[in-house]
Amino acid sequence: MKPLLSCLALLSCFSSAQADTTIPDKETLGKALYFDVNLSKNRTQSCATCHDPSRGFVDHRDTPAGKAVSLGDDGVSLGDRNAPTAAYARFSPDFHLNPKGQYVGGQFHDGREADLKGQAGGPPLNSIEMGMPDKAEVMARLQANLSYATAFKQLFNEAIFSDPEQAYAAMADSIAAFEKTDFFAPFDAKYDRYLRGEVQLTKEESLGESLFFSEQFTNCHQCHKLNTFGGSPEETFSNYEYHNLGVPVNKTARQHNGVAADFVDQGLLANPQVKDEKHSGKFKVATLRNIAITAPYMHNGIFQDLKTVVLFYDQFNNPKRDLNPETHTAWAKPEVDKNVALKTEEFKAPALTDKEVDALVAFMKTLTDQRYEHLLK
Ligand code: HEC
Ligand code: HEC
Repeated sequence: MKPLLSCLALLSCFSSAQADTTIPDKETLGKALYFDVNLSKNRTQSCATCHDPSRGFVDHRDTPAGKAVSLGDDGVSLGDRNAPTAAYARFSPDFHLNPKGQYVGGQFHDGREADLKGQAGGPPLNSIEMGMPDKAEVMARLQANLSYATAFKQLFNEAIFSDPEQAYAAMADSIAAFEKTDFFAPFDAKYDRYLRGEVQLTKEESLGESLFFSEQFTNCHQCHKLNTFGGSPEETFSNYEYHNLGVPVNKTARQHNGVAADFVDQGLLANPQVKDEKHSGKFKVATLRNIAITAPYMHNGIFQDLKTVVLFYDQFNNPKRDLNPETHTAWAKPEVDKNVALKTEEFKAPALTDKEVDALVAFMKTLTDQRYEHLLK
């Protein structure tokens, strides 16, 4: 007798669509597409390769540049930015300018795609990612799979494949629908369970929580809080604004990816919709959900350890924190040394003690979804 496949081995529920199964809705179609390596030229990678559900939806593969950047389907190309988590991404509002004149939301570190649907169309045609030559070629791959061919016609329209543009948009739409399911946003971390009264935080985690949301002792809440009140359910720990933190160049990544060491990643200013110089070097505030298991950190993956990130913040307020513990040298200068948020009055905060640094790290560990708790050190 065949053993019953169990969903306990989480990922077995999300393997590629079988040719003999019918696909009932867009989410299920999107799920199959998300895991399908046929969307890449040499059939070596899917969305899940760089946004791996067993690893907090980030790229856990090693490359010559470590885990900071991603290897493309050609087996040699390396990107220049760290793959952000695709988890909780649906909570980023569509890219827009708010009444205060600040850009908010969108997808990618620079918000250049307004929403998940726009984003999902990018990687298959990106030459250093999935490397497909054009939309028609992607559609030919999809039509070769009988269950896709049937599903696209049933879920969109009979003639969908006569227009590669429309069919490609339907593919992106389906992947986005899957990314909007709760598989990407379970809200079952220790922190969520604590808010629901199911578990207690340790003393250290509790101190970290107070510090994190405090208006007096840290500035974290000024950027990493979506809801008005700290302690609200479904907090994603990002207000989806853009700031320049003064993150240095990742020289190791640049040594390997062929990008000139003096190239400047302009961040938000690299977004074609943004023209004002004052946005140079700004990146989208990252969600802190699953942060403890999604190293390395920052848009270029320059920091390996969560504690280093907290020390990096503290150096702006604390002259004693003059050494980067990972390099044992002084903190390198910002890639864009203008409008660094943490140098302004608005984001000044008191210096942190070692105990407070550790407490913030302990608190961030409680933001780990239950399925990844075994990965916590
Ligand atoms: C080769 C690795 C790679 C592949 C394959 C890949 N991505 Fe990404 N993804 C990245 C990188 C790197 C970024 C950040 C790029 C940037 O900001 O310029 C990113 C960004 C994203 C974001 C934005 C998240 C945020 O917070 O802004 C989402 C969502 C996403 N990818 C989903 C997908 C989907 C869906 C697919 C499959 C169609 C996919 N990715 C394929 C590497 C990859
Ligand atoms: C001025 C706004 C701002 C403040 C204040 C701030 N952050 Fe951030 N944070 C950001 C931005 C923007 C990023 C993404 C930077 C990048 O990618 O280069 C980020 C990234 C991070 C990351 C890495 C995320 C990742 O996926 O790589 C961590 C961890 C983090 N912040 C924790 C904190 C903590 C803890 C505090 C308080 C001590 C804090 N932040 C204060 C804006 C802020």
